[in-house]
Amino acid sequence: MAIQTDGIVLNNRRIKPLYFLLEMDCPAIADETKPGQFVMLRTSNDGRPLLRRPFSVYRSYPAHHPEKRKRGHLLILYKMVGQGTRKMAAFKKGEKVNLIGPLGNGFTLPPLPSSARTILIGGGVGMASLSPLNEPLRSGQLSVFIGGKTKDDILCENDFGGGKGSNIFIATEDGSRGKKGTVVTLFLSEMKRFDKNEPYHVYVCGPDEMVKALSKGIKSGKWTIQASMEARMGCGFGACWGCVLKTTDPQTPYQRVCQAGPVFNLREIVWE
Ligand SMILES: Cc1cc2nc3c(=O)[nH]c(=O)nc-3n(C[C@H](O)[C@H](O)[C@H](O)COP(=O)(O)OP(=O)(O)OC[C@H]3O[C@@H](n4cnc5c(N)ncnc54)[C@H](O)[C@@H]3O)c2cc1C
Ligand code: FES
Repeated sequence: MAIQTDGIVLNNRRIKPLYFLLEMDCPAIADETKPGQFVMLRTSNDGRPLLRRPFSVYRSYPAHHPEKRKRGHLLILYKMVGQGTRKMAAFKKGEKVNLIGPLGNGFTLPPLPSSARTILIGGGVGMASLSPLNEPLRSGQLSVFIGGKTKDDILCENDFGGGKGSNIFIATEDGSRGKKGTVVTLFLSEMKRFDKNEPYHVYVCGPDEMVKALSKGIKSGKWTIQASMEARMGCGFGACWGCVLKTTDPQTPYQRVCQAGPVFNLREIVWE
């Protein structure tokens, strides 16, 4: 269940020109979070901006985590894009940060993660939401497609590895890293590697246009495709209806990303 609590900043450092890693001590949320869930974070205490901002939990270390020093820590990987994230970039060690979380449904893991064939496809900071899947999926066969506009938007490539069958593919739109083009074009050009009759588990997170292009490109009916959707959010817990998305569900075609999602079956999203 989601709670409102304060995290204490342990570290807030720039990892790429526009990207930061915020590490907080926040045991109450770290204990409960699963991959794909998010928090609503108050980016400042001066009321500007007024509304909290949603961020995926990039790492959470519950009380029983084997790395004792990390227990209770909660990490957020964020891109500085506007007023709120600019304020976050100024968070100092020891500062209190108010959070509500964990929120949303999170990803569903394959029934047998150790033998699953899994594909992750992430664009830009969308990788922050996919990266926590490495831990439960690393013992299976994992292919990771990472895209960004430039090399400075390629995130989390070192988070994958250590597994027996991890393969990493990189694409940048300007060609400064990996294959030139979008991550979708790269993925579709590599699709022949994957047997469309095998039950692959595909996890996707990135800008809407990327997710939409994938939904048109992936045809196999045997694959389950979970997409974590980006939306502007007012509250994060179902009250404002600011984050609605259209689905094929005949009973409730309009669903709130913060409550029914952020993870949806890609085939059930209606693109308007
Ligand atoms: C479930 C969820 C998880 C997210 N996880 C992360 C994460 O792990 N790391 C991260 O950096 N960001 C994440 N985001 C996006 C993040 O919430 C926004 O970047 C943030 O709210 C921007 O706040 P701001 O005040 O700095 O920007 P604003 O001043 O509000 O906006 C600046 C610019 O960013 C655009 N923008 C703002 N919010 C969004 C959004 N939700 N989707 C698309 N464009 C947006 C605006 O249109 C505008 O152009 C997530 C969003 C959702 C819904
Ligand atoms: S953000 Fe308010 S209902 Fe989803």
